[in-house]
Amino acid sequence: MAKDASFICTACGATHAKWSGQCDACGAWNTIKENEAISTGPGPRVTRGSALTLTDLATTEAPPARTHAGVDELDRVLGGGLVAASAILVGGDPGIGKSTLLLQAAARFARGGLKVIYITGEESAGQVQMRAQRLGLTESPVKLAAATDLRDILTTLETEKPDLAIIDSIQTVWSDTVSSAPGSVTQVRAAAHELTSFAKRRGMACIMVGHVTKEGTIAGPRVVEHMVDTVLYFEGDRGHPFRILRAHKNRFGPADEIGVFEMTGRGLAEVKNPSALFLAERGAATPGSAVFAGIEGTRPLLCEIQALVSPAPAGQARRSVVGWDGGRLAMILAVLEARAGVAFAGLDVYLNVAGGLRISEPAADLAVAAALLSAREDTALPESAVLFGEISLSGALRPVAQSEMRLKEAKKLGFTTAIIPPVPSRRARMSTGTPADRAALPEVREMHDLAGFVEALFGTEPGRTQVPSDQD
Ligand code: TYD
Ligand code: MG
Repeated sequence: MAKDASFICTACGATHAKWSGQCDACGAWNTIKENEAISTGPGPRVTRGSALTLTDLATTEAPPARTHAGVDELDRVLGGGLVAASAILVGGDPGIGKSTLLLQAAARFARGGLKVIYITGEESAGQVQMRAQRLGLTESPVKLAAATDLRDILTTLETEKPDLAIIDSIQTVWSDTVSSAPGSVTQVRAAAHELTSFAKRRGMACIMVGHVTKEGTIAGPRVVEHMVDTVLYFEGDRGHPFRILRAHKNRFGPADEIGVFEMTGRGLAEVKNPSALFLAERGAATPGSAVFAGIEGTRPLLCEIQALVSPAPAGQARRSVVGWDGGRLAMILAVLEARAGVAFAGLDVYLNVAGGLRISEPAADLAVAAALLSAREDTALPESAVLFGEISLSGALRPVAQSEMRLKEAKKLGFTTAIIPPVPSRRARMSTGTPADRAALPEVREMHDLAGFVEALFGTEPGRTQVPSDQD
C-alpha cells in the first residue's frame, strides 16, 4: 500500500509528503511530526460488506432538540442553543478563560435540567471545586471527575449517561490502544474520534477544550476541527478584559457568529452591548482614530481603528498591524498612493483595532484608510462620524452588505454622520420611507472613490505625494 502524506504539522494539521523544519502551510517551525495511522483497516484485500439501506431526502424527523444555557452570548454562538448528540470543540490560547467559560456554562446547563459531567485532565478536582466556589457555582448539580484515560472516561459516560460531557482538555486524554505519547497528533485524534462517535451513538453532547499550542510537542486543536460539528474559538488579548467566542464552523447555525464576554473577578460576564464597550475607552477625536461600523455574525458592532504614522529611520519602513489583515493593509496603502496620490513610502505605519478585537471584513477598508490619512495629515476626523465601505484596486468605493443595520447601530450610539459608498437600495428606501425611518439613521455622506474621499475630508495640498522628512 502506498503511504502518502506521512508527515503532519501539529499546529495546523497540514499534511506533508516529507519532513521539513518549517510548515509551509502555517509557517510554524519544528511542528512537523511523523503521522501514524489511526486504524489499521481491513488490509490489502477488501472483502465485500453488506448493502446500505438508502432513504429519501424527505424526513418526518423533527429538527434537533436544543437546550439554551440562558447565556445569550453563548446560545447565539452555538446557533441557538446546545444541540443534543453534537460534538463541539472550544479552542483558544492557554489562560484565555476556556475552563472558566465552560465551568460557568456547565453550571447553567445543569441548572436548566441537563445532566452534566465535567471531566478535567488539566487540573485536580479540588482546583475546579475551588474555582466553582469563587464563581458561586457550587449549588449547581454538575458532576466532576479528574481523568485522562479514555477507557475510564468512556466507561464513566456509559454508566452515568449524561446529556452533556465537557472534556477539559482533549490534549490530556490518552488511549492505550495508541502507542504514541499523550498530546501527540495521533492520540488527540483518536481521543476526539472516540468521544465524537460516542456522543453521536448515545445522543450526548460533548464539548472538548483544545489549547492552541505554539510549539510542536502537543497537537493543536486544528487537527480535530474536521471531526466535530461545531468549532468555537475563544479569543482575546490578555491585556484587555474582553473575550470573544467566535464560531469558525457550525453544522447547526451560522458560522462567524460571535459572543462577547468580559473577564471579571467573578468569572466571565456577558456583554450585551459590545459597541458601547469597544468605544468606551475612546476620548475626544484624535488624529489617527476612525470609528468603523462593522457586522460580526448577525450583529452590528462598532469599533475604533487606530493608526500611527511616523517618519521611518533609514532603511525599511515598518508595517505593523494588530487585529486586522497585514496583506489588506498593504493593499490599502498601495491604492492610497496609486489612486489618491498619498504616499506612505519612508513612513512607519502602525494599525490597531482597539479593545483586542480582530476584524476580517473588507468593509473596514474605508475606516482603515481614514485612520491612516488622519494620522498622516495629523488631522482628526469629524468626531460624530462612522465609516464603512470596501475599497477596490481601482480606488472606487464599493457598497457592503447590511448597510442599514450598520447605520442604525451608529445612530443608536449617538453618531450623527456616516461616510459610506453610495448604496442604491438605501437611496430608494429613503425616498419612500417615513420621517421616523429617516430619523433612525445618521446623515449620510456618500463617497464614490478614494480620491474624492481624500479631497472631501482633508482637502488637497500641493506636494501631498512628497514624503515628509524630519531632516528638513
Ligand atoms: P482559565 O479558564 O483557567 O483559562 P484556560 O482554561 O483557557 O487556560 O482562565 C485563567 C485566567 O482567567 C487566569 O489568568 C485568571 C483569570 N480569571 C479571572 O480573571 N477571573 C475569574 O473569576 C477566573 C476564574 C479566572
Ligand atoms: Mg483550562
